[in-house]
Amino acid sequence: MPISYHSSSKTFHLYNSHISYIMMVLPNGHLGHLYFGKALHDRESFEHLLELRNRSMAVCTFEGDLSFSLEHLLQEYPCFGSGDMREPAFDISMDNGSHISDFRYASHIIKEGKPPLPDLPHTFVDHDHQAYTLEITLKDTIMHTTMILSYTLFEQLPIITRHVCFKHEGNSPITLHKAMSLNLDLPDSHYELVELTGAWARERHVKVRPLEHGITAFGSKRGHSSSNFNPFMMLKRPHTTEISGEAIGISFVYSGNFLAQVEVDTYDVSRISIGIHPQNFSWTLEKNDSFTTPEAILAYSDQGLNHLSQQFHTLFLNHLSPKKWRNRPAPILVNNWEGTYFDFNEERIIDMAKTAKSLGIELFVLDDGWFGHRDDDTTSLGDWYPYLKKLPHGLKSLACKIKALGLDFGLWIEPEMISKDSDLYRRHPEMMLHTPQRHDSHGRNQYILDFSNPLVVDTIYHMLENTFKDVPIDYIKWDMNRSMSEVYSTALPAHQQGQVMHRYILGVYHLYERLIQRFPHILFESCSSGGARFDPGMFYYAPQAWTSDDTDAIERLKIQYGTSFAYPIRFMGSHVSASPNHQLHRFTPLKTRGDVAYFGTFGYELDVNQLSDEEKTIVIQQIEWMKEHRSLIQYGTFYRLSSPFEQDTCAWMVVSKDQNDAIVGYYRPLNKINSAYTRLPLLGLDPDKLYGINQTYHYGDELMHYGLITSDESSGLCEHEDPSYDYYSKIYVLKAKSLI
Ligand code: DGJ
Repeated sequence: MPISYHSSSKTFHLYNSHISYIMMVLPNGHLGHLYFGKALHDRESFEHLLELRNRSMAVCTFEGDLSFSLEHLLQEYPCFGSGDMREPAFDISMDNGSHISDFRYASHIIKEGKPPLPDLPHTFVDHDHQAYTLEITLKDTIMHTTMILSYTLFEQLPIITRHVCFKHEGNSPITLHKAMSLNLDLPDSHYELVELTGAWARERHVKVRPLEHGITAFGSKRGHSSSNFNPFMMLKRPHTTEISGEAIGISFVYSGNFLAQVEVDTYDVSRISIGIHPQNFSWTLEKNDSFTTPEAILAYSDQGLNHLSQQFHTLFLNHLSPKKWRNRPAPILVNNWEGTYFDFNEERIIDMAKTAKSLGIELFVLDDGWFGHRDDDTTSLGDWYPYLKKLPHGLKSLACKIKALGLDFGLWIEPEMISKDSDLYRRHPEMMLHTPQRHDSHGRNQYILDFSNPLVVDTIYHMLENTFKDVPIDYIKWDMNRSMSEVYSTALPAHQQGQVMHRYILGVYHLYERLIQRFPHILFESCSSGGARFDPGMFYYAPQAWTSDDTDAIERLKIQYGTSFAYPIRFMGSHVSASPNHQLHRFTPLKTRGDVAYFGTFGYELDVNQLSDEEKTIVIQQIEWMKEHRSLIQYGTFYRLSSPFEQDTCAWMVVSKDQNDAIVGYYRPLNKINSAYTRLPLLGLDPDKLYGINQTYHYGDELMHYGLITSDESSGLCEHEDPSYDYYSKIYVLKAKSLI
């Protein structure tokens, strides 16, 4: 069993061949943290790692003992008010107004496998021996509350998942004001924080900052995980690179408000935590009520950031996203949004679909504007039945015509939203999330349904079910286009208003569950004004997400590169759009747009009938190429090679599991004059294999240590296949010799 409990020292050790995670029951009964990092030998006791030291002026637990202070110990799930002056992992008030708690070790169980988290997205295993779970029960006997800390160690991965469950057994209610999913105390602060930040259309840019004394934090209070910050962080040693050194990764399987923070105390101890944002959160537990936090993921690498990212990619592909879609490459789609916006009718859509089919496209996605009487973004959200002015024969007829062409049919919905100009609002204004007597702020002219109320979720479910049940729908794009404001549920009493934002997200998850159960064949793609809900919570239901509303190939380099820190290529919706680009108004070659979009789900976001014959020929070739290579691209091992945040080029590659095949994407946005010689060292190849690239052969060691010569591409003097010298890209396909 890779989880051991040594009763003589009351020590827990979770370990596999990659990592060790060690905790012990402290003399006061609380749980102390001893170690997280590279695997250590197991032994009867790790007590010697507990540093008890007299420190003047510390608040101490035991009378006559100046060495035991919660302020100076690494702790597993710290409380506030009994000596530890740092940020607590939780905050509970009793009905006498006290916020003091005292959770002491009571028992534990160790089991094979990984139990599911009820009503919440979570990682899972296919067989019990893929993971082992430790559940530690701590009790506060004054409060009559139990806290269960759950840890699952994945046998083959340097990964532990965690969550916490509070169960209240007392007669007087308690209120949870804060309940983080993970706390990790590290003994030093020689780390840099890597985070993914941005805004609409420039999501998940990589930012690195050193840790300082005090708190470094980011999060979302917007009701969705947001395009501004992602529920993900890495802590890397200052010398750690993409290919070497130590780093810790933390991710949060949740789609709503979150807080991610690192506190460094003045003894240089780092306290990391992630969980539901405490702002606007409070949860009262009556006798026999319980509350379970969402799941957090903790990963470790001593082989650099690429390796750490790959661990998340493996976990997410094999243990998070729906099993049904595992190892199934994304269908190549065309989405009409940037091609038509709201300006379409059945005839135009059918014409586009016919052309799409002739180009080799597999799935036609009808985006926003097909329902209610929606001609712009001011109306109809909530009226999920076809707009007969645009689709006079209804949705079923359109879908059947598209299917008859040999294409799959996909549809856009935004089920959490309501327009004031809608039948739903006219009938049920109370279904809107709003604070009575207060002004309602809108976002993109729309308002939000109160998904914290199960009746509202049920209403939307039935409307969608009714619309979908006779229509041959293969794919749904589920959008969510605004942040929340004036949050209040008229369906809940005053003392439960702090539950609304979490209940809302549970409502979203519940609707996903129901729709997936009712329509198991549908492939879901999540979307939120582009990439504002690109989080592990969503990937539990939808194996792909629209990465960004920014479809400009050059901007996408940064967005996709940054996204790859946490998420696999298979998850990233990436489409070729028109030139000039609609967001940046930049002209880029069709080749470059394709070369960037290949590293994602791949598709088109334009009116295919506007393409010239020459462009159609290129598109046909692109689609054929992607069909041949998409399994490798979407399921191979992904490596970042050259960062667009640090260099004037960008490069990445994927390598097949058997190291026989690899594909490199190389991008040089701006041309350079008389430039230096450049080489691109590749990664992940077999040093002993001879790889063919464009009729020349190189051993893997040469490609990895000398590198691929890219000087020609950046000299400004070479012959180009594209008229533009800027926005240059090149794809290299490598095949091991015996296979050529
Ligand atoms: C935002 C999405 O990100 C776009 O792709 C498109 O679906 C629009 N919404 C439609 O309103």
